[in-house]
Amino acid sequence: MSDKQQDNSCSHNYYFDNAATSWPKPESVYRAAELQMRQACGNPGRSGHTRTLEADRLIYRTREAVAGLLKVSDPARIIFTLNATDALNMALKGLLEPGDHVLYTAMEHNSVLRPLGRLRRDGIITTTMVPCSESGDPDLDALENAYQAGTRLLVINHASNVTGTIAPLEKMIKSAHTRGVKVLIDAAQTAGSLEINAEGLGIDLLAFTGHKSLLGPTGTGGLYVRRDLNLKPLREGGTGSQSETDIHPESMPERLEAGTLNNSGLAGLLEGLRFIEQTGLAAIGEHEKEIRSCLYNELETIPGIKLYGPKGEDPAACIVSFTLNSADSGEIGYILESSYGILCRTGLHCAPLAHQAISTFPGGTVRLSPGYFTTRADIDYLVNALKKIAKLT
Ligand SMILES: Cc1ncc(COP(=O)(O)O)c(C=O)c1O
Repeated sequence: MSDKQQDNSCSHNYYFDNAATSWPKPESVYRAAELQMRQACGNPGRSGHTRTLEADRLIYRTREAVAGLLKVSDPARIIFTLNATDALNMALKGLLEPGDHVLYTAMEHNSVLRPLGRLRRDGIITTTMVPCSESGDPDLDALENAYQAGTRLLVINHASNVTGTIAPLEKMIKSAHTRGVKVLIDAAQTAGSLEINAEGLGIDLLAFTGHKSLLGPTGTGGLYVRRDLNLKPLREGGTGSQSETDIHPESMPERLEAGTLNNSGLAGLLEGLRFIEQTGLAAIGEHEKEIRSCLYNELETIPGIKLYGPKGEDPAACIVSFTLNSADSGEIGYILESSYGILCRTGLHCAPLAHQAISTFPGGTVRLSPGYFTTRADIDYLVNALKKIAKLT
């Protein structure tokens, strides 16, 4: 049975919440994570026995695979973290110094807004939000006017987890770099589904998560740190190297990776990355584009539904957000699950400013996020369910 046809036996078969975490995973991901724990368990870098060395190789191969996907020449610049949130905290708190000014877009997730809010409330940094349009596009003129003498960093959500809107990275990075401002990309919604050339774009820092489009287990993610950039570590401790001293190693990746890594998670992540490589990022992107545009175009015909973000044929992450007349989004989500077995996410999606930008604050939207394993038949089922629900509102 191919991964595309695998038996996804679960009480709910209509999964439209891939932007939260992807499901199903390729069969090889489940197997590798389990096998790592059962048969190949060793602590990488901590001693010289066979299993330790095998765990070392596994971690290195995973680092290499991420570096390959993100077009990074030195795998040591890829740091493994718990998730994108952990990586974003590591980037923000490891880079920013007292007096720094930070720019961020209105489409940022709370995993950026909250660490920035903490640093701001503690009097360490000042911040300016770059507004976004109703479709979620950053206002590039406002960006040009937002730089200040102390601006150190621009944070960009590569693709909105509310609307799927893709930020114009090239233009925004150029705008920042012209002024000597560093750029942090939140690629939580794009790593594994859109092409990212981290070195080609000159990205300084990029946070990714392993459990969404990279198809790996939860508890995996990471941070790419550009070659000439040194972050203050948030954590120090055991690395298995230079054990004689209480000074944490300076060399990467140990500088930012303290403590035992999530080996079984990373074993699963490696298989997710291999699946993506074998399938081809272009083929994954093509399928997701087709599925999204089909969903968007079908929903557009349902009376009472209002759609947000890029139109059906426009480039976007595989996300469609909508409201239905004045119905409560949580109630629509409840009916979808309880009557049709359809799982999705409703509300503010940890992105309150994005909802303010698209005028859906505080009620939020119903977010449908298909994935690579979503079929045309799944979309038809969902659309028919929504047609019936729309008649009730
Ligand atoms: C845009 C964006 N950034 C960051 C995150 C946080 O990801 P994680 O749950 O892996 O920390 C998410 C998760 O939904 C997201 O959509």
